[in-house]
Amino acid sequence: MKEVQIHDLVFEPFITVEEIKEIVDGISKKIDRDYEHLNPVLIIVLNGAFIFAADLVRQLTIRLRLDFIKISSYAGTQSTGKIDQQFIWKTSLENQHVLIVEDIVDSGHTLAYLKEKLRLENPASIETICLLKKPECYQYSDVIKYEGISIPNYFVVGYGLDYNGLGRDLDCIYRKKEE
Ligand code: IMP
Ligand code: MG
Repeated sequence: MKEVQIHDLVFEPFITVEEIKEIVDGISKKIDRDYEHLNPVLIIVLNGAFIFAADLVRQLTIRLRLDFIKISSYAGTQSTGKIDQQFIWKTSLENQHVLIVEDIVDSGHTLAYLKEKLRLENPASIETICLLKKPECYQYSDVIKYEGISIPNYFVVGYGLDYNGLGRDLDCIYRKKEE
């Protein structure tokens, strides 16, 4: 695998397709076990989580519903802390078991915002699934129940994640190369 240039930055391979597959398999086994017969509603956080979610739901064997919310808080390589919401789920969440599907949790602001909104719908439960987490940046005490792997404070792209709009289509995860 080679380095890739996106806008002004160079990215180097970080997590391979095989490693991603193993992480997704591990998470799906836990959800299959914990949510058997519960028919959870998965709320996919667009744009970043679309590839992860597509792989995850096809790996799961339980019956589930899914819906989407489109929010963003990132500009360039930094979390802005300001949430921009463009659209929201339509599925009724009253008494449903809700699973938020995020690509990556950084500061945790996006997740905190979303959980607050979800609670207003009176779901039976709310838990979070994320592929990646940056523990050094996370500012909340809420536990993320289904977390793929923790990574250092790297800026990453690929497998759904972007740098100013580019890079989502890369099949594995790259990290920003330090000069
Ligand atoms: P938070 O609100 O600071 O936790 O940021 C979470 C959101 O920012 C994620 O849903 C991603 O869309 C985006 N994000 C966080 N870290 C990265 C990264 O390293 N690369 C690309 N997007 C990221
Ligand atoms: Mg996102």
